[in-house]
Amino acid sequence: MKSEQTKYLKGQGVDTDRFISGMRHVPTVVTVVTMADDAGNWGITIGSFVSLSLDPPLICFNVQKTIAIHDAIVDTDHFIVHVLREDQANLSDLFARSDLSGEEQFESIEYEVSEKGLPVLKDALTTFHCSQYNLLPGGDHSILIGLVERVSNGNPGRPVVYHQRAYHGIGRHIADHH
Ligand SMILES: Cc1cc2nc3c(=O)[nH]c(=O)nc-3n(C[C@H](O)[C@H](O)[C@H](O)COP(=O)(O)O)c2cc1C
Repeated sequence: MKSEQTKYLKGQGVDTDRFISGMRHVPTVVTVVTMADDAGNWGITIGSFVSLSLDPPLICFNVQKTIAIHDAIVDTDHFIVHVLREDQANLSDLFARSDLSGEEQFESIEYEVSEKGLPVLKDALTTFHCSQYNLLPGGDHSILIGLVERVSNGNPGRPVVYHQRAYHGIGRHIADHH
């Protein structure tokens, strides 16, 4: 397999605006990833969450290298992925704000503390409690891979979907999977 560096020469590839306009057609689930370290509680809105492997049970998501939480999450052993319910889009906006500190983000909401000391957002649709399994390079992002140690499916409801820069509920049923 070629390394990332040998495959890419700067300037190759479609330009950023074109890439973003294409990706706006791709709906994503909206999650908030939380963690805690000596500096306190951290949270970030993440749309790149996907399942990766069944055995072992792995998930992954991508974090931009230039943002405040990046180095903290790379160093952490544990994090929690919360899949937001459709009435929790406000949490997505809150944890996407770079003008607020982690302390300011958490002081305005209700949360509990896990046995490992991580903030657990209340009433999420489902939560994946993870230990860090691997970290891979991904251009200007890092790819975080988590081993899922616990899943809580505490609450009824439906997820928020992000599409064309707006939040949506799940649309109409088209067909069953065969
Ligand atoms: C719906 C949604 C999905 C997002 N997904 C990601 C993601 O997967 N990875 C990431 O690094 N940032 C993602 N972000 C952006 C971060 O939540 C946050 O807004 C950004 O990192 C703020 O940093 P900055 O303004 O300092 O660059 C997402 C934001 C939103 C609203």
